[in-house]
Amino acid sequence: MNGASGRMGYRQHLLRSILAIREQGGVLLADGSRVQVEPILVGRSEAKLKELADKHDIEHYTTDLDAALADNRWQIYADFLVTKARVPAIKKAIAAGKAIYTEKPTAESYEEALELARLAKEAGIKNGVVHDKLYLPGFRKLRRLIDSGFFGQILSVRGEFGYWVFEGDWQPAQRPSWNYRSEDGGGIIVDMFPHWNYVLENLFGRVESVYAQATTHIPLRVDEAGTTYRATADDAAYGIFELEGGIVAQLNSSWTVRVNRDELVEFQVDGTHGSAVVGLFGCKIQPRNATPKPTWNPDIPDGHDYAADWIEVPENDVFENGFKTQWEEFIRHVVDDGPNRFDFLAGARGVLLAEKGLASSESGCRVELPVVSIG
Ligand SMILES: NC(=O)c1ccc[n+]([C@@H]2O[C@H](COP(=O)([O-])OP(=O)(O)OC[C@H]3O[C@@H](n4cnc5c(N)ncnc54)[C@H](O)[C@@H]3O)[C@@H](O)[C@H]2O)c1
Repeated sequence: MNGASGRMGYRQHLLRSILAIREQGGVLLADGSRVQVEPILVGRSEAKLKELADKHDIEHYTTDLDAALADNRWQIYADFLVTKARVPAIKKAIAAGKAIYTEKPTAESYEEALELARLAKEAGIKNGVVHDKLYLPGFRKLRRLIDSGFFGQILSVRGEFGYWVFEGDWQPAQRPSWNYRSEDGGGIIVDMFPHWNYVLENLFGRVESVYAQATTHIPLRVDEAGTTYRATADDAAYGIFELEGGIVAQLNSSWTVRVNRDELVEFQVDGTHGSAVVGLFGCKIQPRNATPKPTWNPDIPDGHDYAADWIEVPENDVFENGFKTQWEEFIRHVVDDGPNRFDFLAGARGVLLAEKGLASSESGCRVELPVVSIG
């Protein structure tokens, strides 16, 4: 687990996924048996790794990635490094013949992301990329609505993602400072468009074109050491995505917006037969037959409670942490040859959308996306 001490590496991948899997006795396989996990923490600071290992009763840790990759005991290389450091590390893991599971984005450029997909295919190694948003309870309920035909024909999707990330001066920022420096792999398009790509293509259809406007609203921020730095990366992106089948998606992604919604991410889907609003957890619907009849009248204050017209969709299931569920799927893929839904090529499509989004912002034009293949 390379980068296990980072924000994602520690909380979502180590704590909520691998240690939770270890605690439950491993991953359930098709024949009813279980395969247990044994992590080795990899990083640059021995002291940090030791602290984590001691705290969580983990036997193995090392600062020597090459040695860990050369050791046959370790079957899966997992990467949670800063994006900038990912490609060289993954290339080493491919050369070592490991199965690989990685955070997104898989690379900083589409060319490199595609190269990783090609190298992995040529090496015949199993590979997977985090697609966590699809495993959120709200989005899983949305999947069910789509599968049940609830929407009729889906017309449009409107999404709001974001919250205020403090500038770091009088309150520490809640995200690492590299996110705000493009030279260090930062930027909200690079961060969020890979998510939007897999959300859109898996729920609604392939993204055929993008128009985006990226902005750096807050030009100066203060880093972890208290030093003021220039924010060179976009901290908000306003995008329009045309999807296969004519669906239009508008998604705002922002670290410079104050939240006035139920959840930090919210998508509204409107279809001919009904609409839904989903968040991380919640999902509410309004069927065609229960749609109120608003009339526009600027002279009379509207007393109608529009929020009350929506019906909450019940859980009807136990939704575990999405990172853990996807880890279990990937481990089944590695040891049991179970299906692998989200590979490096899916990761490359996400990086392509980010790259085209930035190109669109630069040119001010709508940019079409080619169909991606390894060639
Ligand atoms: N799936 C999601 O929802 C999600 C959310 C946030 C971040 N991410 C992705 O996860 C990755 C890590 O993000 P984070 O927020 O945890 O960052 P972080 O800065 O908290 O952690 C990054 C890790 O990389 C290590 N690192 C930094 N520079 C390095 C270098 N030059 N060489 C080797 N290691 C280095 C750090 O020590 C740390 O362990 C990023 O690629 C980011 O895009 C994904």
